[in-house]
Amino acid sequence: MSIEGGEPTSEVAASVVKEIEAAGGTAVAVADDISTMAGGARVVETALGAYGRIDGVVCVAGILRERMLFNMSEEEWDPVVATHLKGTFTVFRAASAVMRKQGTGTLIGFTSGNHQGSVAQANYSAAKGGIISLVRSAALGLHKYGVTANAVAPVARTRMSANVPMELKEIGEPEDVAALVVYLLSDRARAEKITGQVYTIAGPKIAVWAQPRELRAGYAEGGAWTPERIADFLPGTVGTDPMPMLAMLEEMARAAAAGDRPNTGRGSGS
Ligand SMILES: NC(=O)c1ccc[n+]([C@@H]2O[C@H](COP(=O)([O-])OP(=O)(O)OC[C@H]3O[C@@H](n4cnc5c(N)ncnc54)[C@H](O)[C@@H]3O)[C@@H](O)[C@H]2O)c1
Repeated sequence: MSIEGGEPTSEVAASVVKEIEAAGGTAVAVADDISTMAGGARVVETALGAYGRIDGVVCVAGILRERMLFNMSEEEWDPVVATHLKGTFTVFRAASAVMRKQGTGTLIGFTSGNHQGSVAQANYSAAKGGIISLVRSAALGLHKYGVTANAVAPVARTRMSANVPMELKEIGEPEDVAALVVYLLSDRARAEKITGQVYTIAGPKIAVWAQPRELRAGYAEGGAWTPERIADFLPGTVGTDPMPMLAMLEEMARAAAAGDRPNTGRGSGS
């Protein structure tokens, strides 16, 4: 497929098949649109037809339609969510049915550091956050069938990242990301019972993301809250959890005001 999505073609996929074969492996390519249920199913059926079983699936397809939230159109929102979030669902849906019967398998979704939020990619960020929740749901729902599910948040020089107008300090190559994916698909990762995790790989850096959890809690005396009681109680007790991305934005604004080139210290990438 082209980098913008749209009409499926298999030129890039076919050249990857050739590379794999030249390296002594076997591969088949499917030119299809994974944002449709039929497309996701065909990817899985093609692998099943060629190999008789499915040990792992990796949902890596993605597109960008960048726009500020207040200008974003439905035509910019829908295909991004359809490609990333629904596209991960369609493949996971078909593959997990096979893996459940096999009693083994690994699902891998691709998220992004930008699941934390993004200035001009609310569509992408929302889809990437959704993928993390989908992966964690798959990890929970398929645990008893011996199937694991994890997400990768890469930062690598690809056709997609070439369009990101920011200088990233922590960035690597697609080969770094491939190494993590191959590990997550391996028996060694399965032996470690790795599931429900989100890993970033950015060149030499590898990192695990925290599980979402309540940070601080408080309880209403007498059990009932009113807006006024919350106003009196919340700021000094439960408080807030500052957004790292907001701190980064403020730092970038300071740097820009000082005439420096915008530079993100932490590689969140697209
Ligand atoms: N490159 C980075 O630094 C970076 C950072 C964070 C997240 N990611 C994520 O990693 C994944 C891979 O990104 P990449 O950088 O290799 O981008 P890429 O544009 O090089 O590759 C994405 C591929 O998805 C394909 N695709 C798009 N719509 C499709 C559809 N409907 N059906 C099937 N295929 C479709 C495109 O043709 C393309 O080959 C994406 O999910 C992306 O969001 C990448």
